[in-house]
Amino acid sequence: MTDAVALIRAKRDGHRLSEADIRWLFGAYATGQVGDEQMSALLMAIYFRGLDGAELRTWTEAMIASGQRLDLSGIGRPTVDKHSTGGVGDKVSLILAPLVASCGAAVPQLSGRGLGHTGGTLDKLEAIGGFRTALTPEETIGLLRAVGCVICAAGSGLAPADRRLYSLRDVTGTVESIPLIASSIMSKKIAEGTGALVLDVKVGAGAFMKSREQARELAETMVALGEDHKVRTRVTLTAMDAPLGRAVGNAVEVAEAVAALEGNGPPDLMEVTLALAGQMLALAGIDADPAAAIATGRARQAFRAMVWAQGGDPDAPLPQAAHVIQALPAPASGWLASLDALAVGTAAWRLGAGRARKEDAVSPSAGVICMAKPGEAVRAGQPLLELHTDEPERFGPALAALDGAVSVTGTQPPRPPVVLEHIG
Ligand code: URA
Repeated sequence: MTDAVALIRAKRDGHRLSEADIRWLFGAYATGQVGDEQMSALLMAIYFRGLDGAELRTWTEAMIASGQRLDLSGIGRPTVDKHSTGGVGDKVSLILAPLVASCGAAVPQLSGRGLGHTGGTLDKLEAIGGFRTALTPEETIGLLRAVGCVICAAGSGLAPADRRLYSLRDVTGTVESIPLIASSIMSKKIAEGTGALVLDVKVGAGAFMKSREQARELAETMVALGEDHKVRTRVTLTAMDAPLGRAVGNAVEVAEAVAALEGNGPPDLMEVTLALAGQMLALAGIDADPAAAIATGRARQAFRAMVWAQGGDPDAPLPQAAHVIQALPAPASGWLASLDALAVGTAAWRLGAGRARKEDAVSPSAGVICMAKPGEAVRAGQPLLELHTDEPERFGPALAALDGAVSVTGTQPPRPPVVLEHIG
């Protein structure tokens, strides 16, 4: 007879899990026969031992089968979604969904919450007062028809096993695993019923994938899972050595996304957004210029329509932190050579923008503003960051995370590339 301890031991000792084992596991986890502590131990064993191709396929199918699948075939527009593996300052989804919708596609953007030091699209959007991320499948389909895009949580019916595993991984140090990331992302995306998918795999210090080789392996794993389920999938690898844009947090990132939709986005953020928009439109078979959709205000209108439709007020002021300090003086005059995304993401997390335990709420107003980005000129002593929080006792731990986070060079470095390569 199968039992959880036997499966944990088997994986811990480097053995394969059979199809029957994996199906039993997910069934028993859903009924409570397997507890969170046992699932956490198994996740740690998978973190170290991995899953082979057949195990991963069954694992992903079991996650999809833990809930329902949406049928988007009646939307009347080509459906295409995007998902990022998680970065620091990555507010691209907030811009991209309305942008691509304003070009004629339907974008069913089922998103996640912050994971570790990386922010979550849902946490960011909930900084907009009243914005609802928990929608029924009927509401999701209604919004896709009416507005062309929706950004919401995978409802309790869609890949519910991922939601539980995701929050366990967040607090048990088991996020950075290629099979666990690939199955988490692809189970949600396959269950949501999108016809095509663009994945933004982040690479670098602030990403879960630290090297190009790991990022390529994750990309190829996800493209294969997409193909197995007839979802046309492409991947773009993008750099995550420094935060994307200048804002890291929740409300501060919404503000930067709105500025981007108004045509005032920072260059690195716009480069990633327009590259991904181009991939999404190509997969959807739509010949449109995403930069023109921003310049004409169409994308901004679609964002406003989405916010209204999801219960938010796009004109309401965003929450502001009660305490703001300037920090991290430049160690010398010259050009900023590096600004470590992991350190900045960890600082924002400690300021309250992310969670320490899965049941924690995030602070909408906490975060970091990068006053200089790599490649920009700085003066010795000039503060490079602004830290925002409602709880001033959080400044100490945030500052500790920033120790050694920057380097300055005496010669102007070239602007680091952000879009690295396309796969699939
Ligand atoms: N995004 C997800 O949805 N899941 C992961 O595991 C990592 C990033």
